[in-house]
Parts: sequence; C-alpha cells; structure tokens
Amino acid sequence: MSLFVTFEGPEGSGKSTQARLLYSYLHARGYPVVLVREPGGTRIGDLIRRIVLDLQHTEMADTTEMLLFSAARAQLVNQVIRPYLDQGGIVLCDRYADSTYAYQGYGLGRDMNELRTITAIATGGLLPDITIYLDLTADEGLERKRRKRQEQEQGRPSGALSLPSDLPRPHTDTRPVSLEWNRLDAREVAYHRRVAEGYGKLIAQEPERWRSFDARLPIEALAGRIAHALEPWIEHIQMIASAPEQP
Ligand code: TYD
Repeated sequence: MSLFVTFEGPEGSGKSTQARLLYSYLHARGYPVVLVREPGGTRIGDLIRRIVLDLQHTEMADTTEMLLFSAARAQLVNQVIRPYLDQGGIVLCDRYADSTYAYQGYGLGRDMNELRTITAIATGGLLPDITIYLDLTADEGLERKRRKRQEQEQGRPSGALSLPSDLPRPHTDTRPVSLEWNRLDAREVAYHRRVAEGYGKLIAQEPERWRSFDARLPIEALAGRIAHALEPWIEHIQMIASAPEQP
C-alpha cells in the first residue's frame, strides 16, 4: 500500500508550507515519506525549473512552457515518485498535473485534451490518490505573495505566512522558495483569476479526489485539518522500522 498526495492552489495560498508541515508530521510519526515539488524535485527538473521560471525568458512560447513542465514531471515520476510508491511509501508533491490544467489549460487557454494526452505520456498515467487544495482568491494570493516579498526584501520577518525555521525543504530544493517572484507570477491578474477559477472547475469534475481547505485559516489549524483528513489513507500505510531510502 502506498499513498500519493498532491498539493494545489493559486499563488500565495501557502500550500508549500502545508506540504512541509505534513511531511514533518508524518516523518516524526515514523512513516516512510518523501516531499518533492514541481517543477523540480530532481537534478534535471531543477534545471528545467530555472529555465521555465526565469523572469528574463519573456520570449518563451506557451508550447515550450507546457512541454518543459511536462518534461520536469516525467523525470520526477520516473526518478522519484514511482520508485518510492513502489516501495510502499508516501509521496507528497507540491504541485502536479492539475497545475498544468489550471495554469496552461484555464490560464493560458490551451486545449485540455491535448494537455491530458501530454500529461498521460509524462506521468505514465499516474494519478494522485488525494489532492489537497488550498482555497484562496487570486487577488488575495498575489497580495500575500507581494507583501511577503516586500517584508523579506526589507529584512523584516513576514507575518501570517512565516515558516517555522526547521521545516524541511523538498527533495533537492536548496533555494528559498518564498523569495522567488517568477515569470509566471508576473503575469497579469486576469490570468491568475482564470487559474483560480479553473481549479474550481477541476474540483467539480472530480470531487472525490480533492479535499479543499480555506487557506485563510491560521497555519497550525490548517495543518491539523489536513492531517486529520488524511487519516483514513494513512492508516493503511505500513510504518516500517527502516523507511525506504530517500531517492
Ligand atoms: P513556484 O515558485 O514553485 O510557485 P508556487 O509556490 O506557487 O508553487 O513556481 C511554480 C510556478 O509554476 C507557479 O506559478 C505555478 C507554475 N506551474 C505551471 O504553470 N504549470 C505547471 O504544470 C506547474 C507544475 C507549475
């Protein structure tokens, strides 16, 4: 028995924080668990991440962007996610294919069937068992992210979204996530609104897979709710004395 959990949400929804808190919680309880993020999570994926999020790459074609996200995902599934699930572990992934449907599909208006086909190739058809959605409007999320960046630039500790300092980072991730203002963040507000609304449509299409949480709740309260919601799945995971090796 294994478990594949993905985290989704608009910019600034705090899903990376929640993914890291859930990782700490499961790890402390002795579960075999790994945390990865998209794009990234592998050496090759991290290189793709740099290319795709670089603010200077204004000339990047939408098709290139979509294929790069998919290529990073293919590498992550092959190198980390599949092998870890095959060993009976829990994989927590900060963004996955739903981000492509929300951002490139609803955000950029790319053909959904085309995206589904490419995603099926990239993932070999691997779907999450459960997807945690952190619900926040696009405007609120962007405002949060802007505020946090400003505070960090001014060297002030950020308020509501500040992270406990000992939280683990996703596998291979060595750079501060929260300071990044990337090429996609820089897109106009209307784009981010389409993305947030797109998530609503994705949830409506597959309500049994998604668990939606109010991202405005305090960090700890939210973490408790997420852990509680996952209990029925987690109890089937074997706590093994020696967890599978981190890939
Ligand atoms: P990141 O700094 O990790 O943002 P976040 O903390 O919100 O996850 O940057 C990832 C960006 O890439 C984010 O804007 C969402 C976008 N993205 C896509 O557009 N398509 C995808 O398939 C994925 C995985 C991410």
